[in-house]
Amino acid sequence: MLVGKRIVLGVTGGIAAYKAVELCRRLVDAGAHVIPVMTEGAERFVGRATLSALASEPVQTSLWDEVDPIPHTRLGRSADLIVVAPATARLLSAYANGLSTDLLTNILLATRAPVVVCPAMHTEMWEHPAVRANVAALASRGVHIVEPESGRLAGGDIGTGRLAATESIVAAITAALAAGAASTAGELSGTHVVVSAGGTREPIDAVRVIANRSSGKQGYALAAEAALRGARVTLVSTVELPSPAGSEVRAVETAAEMLDALAELAPKADVVIMAAAVADFRPTTVAPGKLKKATGMPEIVLERTPDILAGLGANKPPTQVLVGFAAETSDLVANATSKLQAKNLDLIVANDVSAPGVGFQHETNAVTLLCADGSTIGVGLTDKKAVAKVVMDTVVKILMTKPRQ
Ligand code: CTP
Repeated sequence: MLVGKRIVLGVTGGIAAYKAVELCRRLVDAGAHVIPVMTEGAERFVGRATLSALASEPVQTSLWDEVDPIPHTRLGRSADLIVVAPATARLLSAYANGLSTDLLTNILLATRAPVVVCPAMHTEMWEHPAVRANVAALASRGVHIVEPESGRLAGGDIGTGRLAATESIVAAITAALAAGAASTAGELSGTHVVVSAGGTREPIDAVRVIANRSSGKQGYALAAEAALRGARVTLVSTVELPSPAGSEVRAVETAAEMLDALAELAPKADVVIMAAAVADFRPTTVAPGKLKKATGMPEIVLERTPDILAGLGANKPPTQVLVGFAAETSDLVANATSKLQAKNLDLIVANDVSAPGVGFQHETNAVTLLCADGSTIGVGLTDKKAVAKVVMDTVVKILMTKPRQ
């Protein structure tokens, strides 16, 4: 359950902060990708270097010290789970009241991921009605509270308030992740989702092709996310990546082959996502054999390929959600909006492929989702799995507005 999960570990300023180091290590050992975020108070109890050395990324403490101008939304959106251990009375109060004073409280407000909060403080504080009310408010909103234990506290006092044992916190994290997976697990069951991925290759002769830089990774992440949510998934792909669990892969190479596959699969699909980078032009004729240098400079005459997505949009069943991608290098929103309208889409995922770390061949992406109802969602630079989650959340919402098959 923890393998590959992105976990933001929030550490606040209490004496139990030293135990966050052990928790961090346990999570990393279990295969999680741990992103530590410390408050100013936490830094008085443990050194940044300690947590940075053990976690999967260096510690972050501030909204302002990053190259990324909006680290809180990026971290909040891309996290699979956020755990705060230890959580001080001050953190509980800020979180319960929606106060965003630092990076950690901003992340907590910006996330939709499950949150596990592990309070630790003196008994009198833990029993104070204000603290009880904040804990109750958080629990009523679905925050998982790992109650403190009874035992020796700082200064030698004995009572309730000691941070829960590391095993209990890890168990709560695992349970919260399982519950989160269960809540989206079945939401696409009974549906058929078709995803296209990769760049097409258009032959010039027996050995040469016109290709593009698409890696197919975003399409594969989308297929995996749809399968996780219970959909039957068919992935029409030009690339050879490991098949996502639960997806059937149809291998194609050219725009014409992709068109044939989509023409067969799309009419009955509930969701069609064209993440593939389809060549817009192909040679009019394919030279038999290999073009030889000695024969002189070849003249390659190009013709337009069919616009697969536009064809799907023109024949879209009323029950279907049709999603396109727009790879742009300028005027992102204007260009993507005209594609959304011209191709009769429900959603277009636009990215500026000239920006660093975005789109083709990268592990990461930054996208703007433009919906047919005019709403937009921006997703800052994050991994393609996190982008896939946001896209699929939006697809599920649009699907609910469609008439049933
Ligand atoms: N697409 C398609 N068939 C094509 C070209 C594109 O189905 N022959 C789809 C892509 O899969 C993508 C969307 O159309 O979902 C937009 O592709 P993009 O290359 O960004 O735009 P184009 O419509 O090709 O326009 P342009 O190249 O002028 O930007």
